[in-house]
Amino acid sequence: MCGIVGYVGTRPAARILVEGLARLEYRGYDSAGLAVAYRKALRTTKAVGRVDDLRAALGDEPSPGRVGIAHTRWATHGEPSERNAHPHTDASGRIAVVHNGIVENAEELRAKLIADGVVFASDTDTEVLPHLIAKAAGDDSRTLEEAVREALRVVEGTYGLVVLDARRPDELVVARNGSPIVLGLGDGEMFVASDVAALVRHTRQVVFLADGELATITATGYEGSRLGPPTTVDVDDDDYDLDGHPDFLSKEIHEQPAALRRVLAGRLDTRFATARLDGLRLDPRELRGIRRVTFLGCGSALYAGQMGAMFMEELARVPADAEQASEFRYRNPLVDPDTLYVAVSQSGETIDTLAAVEELQRKGGRVVGCVNVIGSAIARQCGAGMFLHAGPEVSVASTKAFSSMTTSFALLALLLGRVRDLSSAHGTRLVDGLRRLPDAVEHALAGEAEVAAVARRYAEARSMFYLGRVRGSAVAREGAQKLKEISYVHAEAYAAAELKHGPLALVDATMPCVVVVPDDELIAKNVSTIEQIKARGGPVIAVTNADLPDGLADAVLRVPRLEPELDPILLGIPLQMLAYHCAAALGRDIDKPRNLAKSVTVE
Ligand code: F6R
Repeated sequence: MCGIVGYVGTRPAARILVEGLARLEYRGYDSAGLAVAYRKALRTTKAVGRVDDLRAALGDEPSPGRVGIAHTRWATHGEPSERNAHPHTDASGRIAVVHNGIVENAEELRAKLIADGVVFASDTDTEVLPHLIAKAAGDDSRTLEEAVREALRVVEGTYGLVVLDARRPDELVVARNGSPIVLGLGDGEMFVASDVAALVRHTRQVVFLADGELATITATGYEGSRLGPPTTVDVDDDDYDLDGHPDFLSKEIHEQPAALRRVLAGRLDTRFATARLDGLRLDPRELRGIRRVTFLGCGSALYAGQMGAMFMEELARVPADAEQASEFRYRNPLVDPDTLYVAVSQSGETIDTLAAVEELQRKGGRVVGCVNVIGSAIARQCGAGMFLHAGPEVSVASTKAFSSMTTSFALLALLLGRVRDLSSAHGTRLVDGLRRLPDAVEHALAGEAEVAAVARRYAEARSMFYLGRVRGSAVAREGAQKLKEISYVHAEAYAAAELKHGPLALVDATMPCVVVVPDDELIAKNVSTIEQIKARGGPVIAVTNADLPDGLADAVLRVPRLEPELDPILLGIPLQMLAYHCAAALGRDIDKPRNLAKSVTVE
């Protein structure tokens, strides 16, 4: 949450900073601002709203200064307003700070600073930082890095921050504790950002700051006690283009066949009818020793984990569950040495999931990651796992990362199954099904026009139910989540059989019910659920790969048949498109739904 960018080099900084911010807008879009140092003074520009508003506020002649910092905000302390927009400065206007994270003892620090005569200009937790740094910098006998280090001694909480001192226009100081910071190495210029997305236009040579690191960067290099050598990131600037799509969500929904081909590349072993997941770093004996699998994640990553748990029990016959990472970390969890814990996260930065990993490791648990972003905190903390290779996911709502996660879990279940009792014939059928999955997703996506027509019919609904049994359960939960977050239509997912135990009272002609109907042994039960809804006048949208009786549902969204165990991955695709087209029909800001941000790095 919140995106930060910094630049020090030979070109005017302002435009570079704004371009970088635009790439980080998914991290927050309540306000944006930047500060550029020129002739030993700072020029600060801020705007409420989007990066485009900041661009407009900058006008045609931004400061020619060649060093600066910028920020796009997801508000935590204080309403979205110009006064609360970053960068924040000390009273003299010399030190400017952009910050991602939360200063947890801000109230206490603020009270002390006020007692010392400091006057605050915002309601934010961040503002204590420039005041503390200015105080520590004092008469300039310390370097800026020393002043920042000194100031941070009293700060509790999380931060990724960049500090600019008007008197030292040749350098920036960066620090990280819990929130991501990555340095980009240019030719005679250096960049800083929360995410490589803001850097790849300029360089693919990057250095990820580890937690607790602090560094000084200049146009020609970086200095920090524990910084490693640069690595080359496997992301292109083009990956952030819309590629003819109206928005990133549409692009990412349609990228799924290609994303799944990457997930599967090199991981299907036809000879032994199994999966190869070398990144787990578990040998067959260790795989056999696993007595339980627990997935940990938040939001869609949690729902992906729920599907993963189902795959694990069905294919590998290993008990499995999925836990909300946020609850797990605070519950004083019982950690079992024979359980394989899988931390699931697209961004690899979600604070609750990261904290759950740390808690597990502290108690001796064996935890692997299932992460999209290479170099992210969770990937580094786990040290082993499965990368998704889904490519950058820019839209706030997760789609291609979700289907890549669930496909990875099918691979994991296949692998665990094949070191146990899953037969070679069964394994071969699954390997074959997985191989056909990307084409089947392509086929499901081809039904978009019909899904859009259904969405237009129901988009005005006040609320919708999403119902599914066993293989349809996690699909329904994720479907409801997508609808809520991008269309703002209330949706609730239920196990289909639970409907009769209370929620059926809500069903009438104004409550569309989306029922997930896999073509499996429970089909008769799902048909009966649909009939019960119809008997109460509720409109039914069925999502299925079965041939349902004509007229049973008011609308049918079809996907091809694959293999029954893998069908849930496919059944989710129309629900992504349904949410997308409901949001489009309602004129929502599809890539940047209100109140949300993609990477949740604060609690
Ligand atoms: C939903 C969505 C969120 C994320 C959740 C976890 O579409 O995007 O629910 O799934 O915030 O994020 P990651 O996967 O980055 O840990």
